[in-house]
Amino acid sequence: MTTLTIPPQVRAEGPNEQGYQVFSLGEFLFSRDEYFAYITWPTGRHVMSVDAFLRALQRDVAWDFFYGIVNFDGVLGTVNHYGSVDLFGGRYNDAYRKAELDHVDRIDTPVIRETFKAMLADWTNEGFDPFASPEETGSAFGLKRGGNLAAVTRRRVTATRMVSMPDDEALRSDANGHPVNRMFADVSQDEPEVTAEPGFEGEVASFNLFAYLSRSAVTWNPSVVSVCRDSLYCPTTEEYILPIIHGNDRAEWFVQLSDEIIWDVEDRDTGAKRAKVVMKAGDVAAMPADIRHQGYAPKRCMLLVWENASSKIPELISSGKFPSQPVVF
Ligand code: PHB
Ligand code: FE
Repeated sequence: MTTLTIPPQVRAEGPNEQGYQVFSLGEFLFSRDEYFAYITWPTGRHVMSVDAFLRALQRDVAWDFFYGIVNFDGVLGTVNHYGSVDLFGGRYNDAYRKAELDHVDRIDTPVIRETFKAMLADWTNEGFDPFASPEETGSAFGLKRGGNLAAVTRRRVTATRMVSMPDDEALRSDANGHPVNRMFADVSQDEPEVTAEPGFEGEVASFNLFAYLSRSAVTWNPSVVSVCRDSLYCPTTEEYILPIIHGNDRAEWFVQLSDEIIWDVEDRDTGAKRAKVVMKAGDVAAMPADIRHQGYAPKRCMLLVWENASSKIPELISSGKFPSQPVVF
């Protein structure tokens, strides 16, 4: 077992009776036992199944707080201010707001980043992989049992130009530890043939995105496979439930590349239900900036998430200079 060193800016005490550290951040306290994560703040308390909690925490850590709001569920979550992060309980929940039980602490990004990383490492037991589908991982439950640092500190794929270009993210193969997933056995593994004019060998490239995605071991983890200035292609493979409810600070486009995802769409600030979107292979959707969404994938499927990473967008939308929806039909 690897021993965990807890950095100085992380407030942790323990182990508790079940063997886990207890963490604090601002006025929030985080603890876990065999089945649940418990979160308390001065005006409230919350409980989540620990497997769902760890799956959400894993995304928040790996995506460095992502775009906008990462709701772990309808109560707890984070808002990315790109330099600091709001940690909240009940802030985007109408009932908590009306009862004045909500609470927000603004925390410097390095402090919440290190605390969340330490919590994820300490609370993840041997054999549990928060990025894997439930069918492909062991259990998150029980008394503290080893750890799974290799899984919780996986490197995120972020191409600088495009997967397969020289000096960029490599193609996946059996040989480099990326076997085809059980549900993608029928996906063709052919690669396109590229014949570049002399002098352009480093500039022209092409790869089979379906083959690349068929070899992804993780679920609900968009990775950057191509970049054109602020335009990022972030495809991902999905199975079971997106472990967060994403409240975006910009619009994002979804292209369903295979199979099906059912999206629950709610008002971003209150959680009021707004739409149920069923996306089948070939469907394209623009998710507006004033909603939050969570996806359900009955079978492992491929989804292209298209992001505009410009740091100017959140302000342009919140000040009303940009509309919330990128297209009007
Ligand atoms: C999203 O919030 O838009 C999102 C996150 C992770 C995914 C897919 C979509 O895998
Ligand atoms: Fe999203």
